[in-house]
Amino acid sequence: MASVTVTSCWKSLLLVALMGLPGLGTKVQISWTGRVTAGSPTTFTCSSNCFPNCIYTWSFKASTVNGSTLTWTPDGLDDTVKLHCTVFNPQTGVYTSTDTIVEITNQISVQVSPLNTVPSLNQSLNLICHDARFGDPQGLSDLVWYKDGQEVTLRENMWLQQNNLTLHFDSLLPSDAGFYQCQTYLPTSQTTVVSLGYLLSYDQWNVSISGPDTVFPGQLSEFTCLTSCTLNVECTVRWEFRGGFPVGTYFSVHKNEVKWTPSLPGTFQNFTCIAENKAAGRSAEATKMVEVKDIPISGSEAMQLSGLFAGILSLGMWVLLGWALETVYLYSL
Ligand SMILES: *[C@@H]1O[C@H](CO)[C@@H](O)[C@H](O)[C@H]1NC(C)=O
Ligand SMILES: *[C@@H]1O[C@H](CO)[C@@H](O)[C@H](O)[C@H]1NC(C)=O
Ligand SMILES: *[C@@H]1O[C@H](CO)[C@@H](O)[C@H](O)[C@H]1NC(C)=O
Ligand SMILES: *[C@@H]1O[C@H](CO)[C@@H](O)[C@H](O)[C@H]1NC(C)=O
Ligand SMILES: *[C@@H]1O[C@H](CO)[C@@H](O)[C@H](O)[C@H]1NC(C)=O
Repeated sequence: MASVTVTSCWKSLLLVALMGLPGLGTKVQISWTGRVTAGSPTTFTCSSNCFPNCIYTWSFKASTVNGSTLTWTPDGLDDTVKLHCTVFNPQTGVYTSTDTIVEITNQISVQVSPLNTVPSLNQSLNLICHDARFGDPQGLSDLVWYKDGQEVTLRENMWLQQNNLTLHFDSLLPSDAGFYQCQTYLPTSQTTVVSLGYLLSYDQWNVSISGPDTVFPGQLSEFTCLTSCTLNVECTVRWEFRGGFPVGTYFSVHKNEVKWTPSLPGTFQNFTCIAENKAAGRSAEATKMVEVKDIPISGSEAMQLSGLFAGILSLGMWVLLGWALETVYLYSL
């Protein structure tokens, strides 16, 4: 009897293993090496395991390519691309697919020269087509300038200089405002690349920080950076804590919001919010100074305070305990 039981047990184990096989073929992976850069070819590999072999199909940006590898050179027009790989397993007749979103770096950008020049009406301005890979920008050839997606037509007192590398304005007009891009031909990869753009505008961005001027230990306060530029489209926001990082029991930064529970009364904290568009060379900032005051003692606040002190006390106990243990350890050596 006992040997029959063992046999049926082995049978069911074998069945599980066989049933598990098609499942093995369903894992699909997309891989590549290095950064994906506009103007440079990257080879993406789709892999899976089918017996005798898998049939791979790629789809991305409205095109379809057969085969397990895909070699693609981004043209700079996208900052991300979605790659989709479908695997057909001829043995099981099953299709499986996977997606990946790839970030594209563009090393060519339009910049103002000198950097950080703020364009103003009736002033001269130089826009340059800049390639972060070379110190010598003369490496760029066949340059074409675009404004708001249309090829730039030169008006009076507007010039192309240095083999079109520089677009020069003698005196800016209101009609010169717009989104400028340059396009160049890279002989190494035989591709045309469109640069990151520069928004020429005469408006200064407004940045301000909302939130209380006075905060209390143990109380959570919120600060929000308000910008006239559209977040994550025209500009991104970052925070700086010049003169010291906020001290407290809780602190978090999420995009344009800071949450803080201070702990040290009688101190000042400065929050600086910077709205910027690095590619366009534009930025604006605001700073808010916040005072941490002693807690006005009321019933509920006194409760919170005693809780806070209990927290500090227990932290202190741990530090003491750690110190004591370390001392004991050292003495035992
Ligand atoms: C890809 O393969 C499919 C089927 O095997 C075929 O119909 C199609 O023409 C191929 N496409 C290309 C671009 O080779
Ligand atoms: C620019 O020049 C025009 C004409 O010369 C003048 O009317 C205008 O006030 C000037 N604007 C600024 C901002 O200087
Ligand atoms: C400069 O730009 C003009 C107009 O877009 C074009 O005709 C010319 O070929 C360009 N020159 C060079 C050296 O790229
Ligand atoms: C910036 O702030 C000023 C004054 O607070 C206001 O007049 C102006 O309209 C604001 N500009 C933008 C672009 O929000
Ligand atoms: C905060 O900013 C003010 C005004 O800019 C400055 O006087 C003060 O020293 C700063 N405080 C700290 C702690 O950095």
